[in-house]
Amino acid sequence: MRFTLVTLFPEFFDSPLASGLMARGAQAGLVEFARVNPRDFATDQRGTVDGRPYGGGPGMVMACPPLAAALESIPRPGRMIYLSPRGKRLDQALARELAAEPALTLVCGRYEGIDQRLLEAFPLQEVSVGDFVLGGGEAGALCLVEAVARLLPGFMGHDESADEESFAQGLLEYPHYTRPEEFRGLRVPQVLAGGDHGRVAAWRRERALETTLARRPDLLAETDLDEADLDVLRRARRAKGPGLGRNLHLALLHAPVLNKFGQTVAVSLTNLDVHDIARVSRTCGLGGYYIATPLVDQRALLDSLLGHWLEGPGREANADRAEALSLVRAAADLDEVLADVGRRCGQAPRVVATSARGAGSATPGRVRRWLGEGPVVLVLGTGHGLAPEILERADGVLRPLHALGGYNHLPVRAAAAMIVDRVLGDLY
Ligand SMILES: C[S@@+](CC[C@H](N)C(=O)[O-])C[C@H]1O[C@@H](n2cnc3c(N)ncnc32)[C@H](O)[C@@H]1O
Repeated sequence: MRFTLVTLFPEFFDSPLASGLMARGAQAGLVEFARVNPRDFATDQRGTVDGRPYGGGPGMVMACPPLAAALESIPRPGRMIYLSPRGKRLDQALARELAAEPALTLVCGRYEGIDQRLLEAFPLQEVSVGDFVLGGGEAGALCLVEAVARLLPGFMGHDESADEESFAQGLLEYPHYTRPEEFRGLRVPQVLAGGDHGRVAAWRRERALETTLARRPDLLAETDLDEADLDVLRRARRAKGPGLGRNLHLALLHAPVLNKFGQTVAVSLTNLDVHDIARVSRTCGLGGYYIATPLVDQRALLDSLLGHWLEGPGREANADRAEALSLVRAAADLDEVLADVGRRCGQAPRVVATSARGAGSATPGRVRRWLGEGPVVLVLGTGHGLAPEILERADGVLRPLHALGGYNHLPVRAAAAMIVDRVLGDLY
């Protein structure tokens, strides 16, 4: 694999490319490096490679002429990449894809970056090494070179080690141990010293699953898992105790809500809302589901409905339904909900409202963080949505679901399920 590094600081790469496996890989002809400095292609005596940005603002921009000449001087550029925080995130899958190329040219930006027209004039793919801003592309290029080079056949000596590592199978890697068998009272897990390869492999898979669940549950959503894996994850999940969902309480308000004329009204209870949102709440491990209506006859209706399923014939017929409906609590209004949650949790809850209109002021990620700090009541509206007075008193209003589409009329049961899933995911 031939790497051409286009950089204003070629000396940056001296030591990393001359050390360890990279040096050996170069000696063995598995990797070769060329460095091209755009300053060598500057047309003035001072070697100018940058200019002030059009439109004003701080910093300088790497100019087109010297960089274009530098790129055009490369005999075999192969796939061309510009290291940039605006690019596609480098991950193991992209590293694998790049390792199949015969040559890569890596353009390292400096200052505020390169003139946009270079990205239009050359087939430069933007690649980022993470959601942070580096002072220059060199450190990013080095990450990319290392990630790609070690996947080249023969580079690491024993090629199977790349198949077992973090991300190779969508999991973080298991822990490693070496001699001595005991260090400061800490012993190597017995199974690893036992010589039973089947048990060692099973132990390693379990630790990899547990570590991934604890640190990067987002990876598991895209990982192929079998029943045995799910059992390991279930056990790990149980051992961790209640998840974040325990701090989330839903409140379905039947007043004050808007009707289709924009008037503030109270609307009547819907049986399906009671059942379906209770089932969502139980499935996602939520702390509770409040149904609020100021209408006494509606609360009596709810009482009799719950009585049927929790204490009457419904309980015998469908115990699962009873389990879900046991999360339901009746309230007259939002104040009563907040007081009850505060009493049960020993802490006043934050209030997050939902709406199919407006731009919102909260995101699912922010609500997830709030759940790590204490209880949250997520308020859902019936009718044509929550009245402005409820939205105004909330700590945050979630941006409408599918806000970019033209049609936005979800039933509240569906909205509840989608919002809870976006806040918690199914592995938290
Ligand atoms: C100070 S940065 C420019 C940041 C740019 N103004 C922005 O806000 O997107 C200078 C150079 O560092 C490199 N760089 C910075 N952060 C990076 C990242 N996360 N991944 C890859 N390259 C990065 C790019 O080559 C960039 O042109």
